[in-house]
Amino acid sequence: MKNCKLSWTLVVVLAIVVAIFGYKFTVGEVQPSDDGRQAVMLSKDERNALLLEMRTWLLNSQKILAASAEKDFAGVVSAAKESGMAAEADTPGSLFRKIPIEMKTLGFDTRGKFDDIAADAEQHKDSDRIVSKLSVAMNNCIACHAMYRFVETEQ
Ligand code: HEC
Repeated sequence: MKNCKLSWTLVVVLAIVVAIFGYKFTVGEVQPSDDGRQAVMLSKDERNALLLEMRTWLLNSQKILAASAEKDFAGVVSAAKESGMAAEADTPGSLFRKIPIEMKTLGFDTRGKFDDIAADAEQHKDSDRIVSKLSVAMNNCIACHAMYRFVETEQ
């Protein structure tokens, strides 16, 4: 009987721990920002890592446009792949807990769209299709920038 009570207590405690972790994972480490956006609170290194990823996205978006104007489809494929899901491996693991779920979803969707540009360029070799897909992908840039900013926490 005593053992039974103990295991129920354990189940309840574990359920609470799981719920807290789940909540943290979903909500992330955010605070309201006075510019109307949500501030994602990060360490200096995490913020720098994400801003570097951002500049890589901008760089590769320009490379995709320049290469499609030249009908250099191999160039399109390699630039798009550099912004795709494979590059996610460079993201520090600690960020998964801090980034809210909507932001993660938008981020993964953006990577998926770059992989789709790579696959499409390989198959169709068609600049119009590439430009149109890139313009759709860049709506994600606009949407996320309208919602979030990265703020460095004091250490
Ligand atoms: C999932 C959210 C998200 C997506 C998608 C996203 N960004 Fe960002 N980006 C941010 C946030 C947040 C910042 C920091 C803004 C701030 O703190 O004011 C940022 C900053 C930047 C910066 C500034 C980098 C620096 O060094 O200061 C550039 C450039 C940038 N993004 C480019 C892009 C481009 C191009 C895309 C689309 C291909 C994109 N971003 C998609 C969230 C996102």
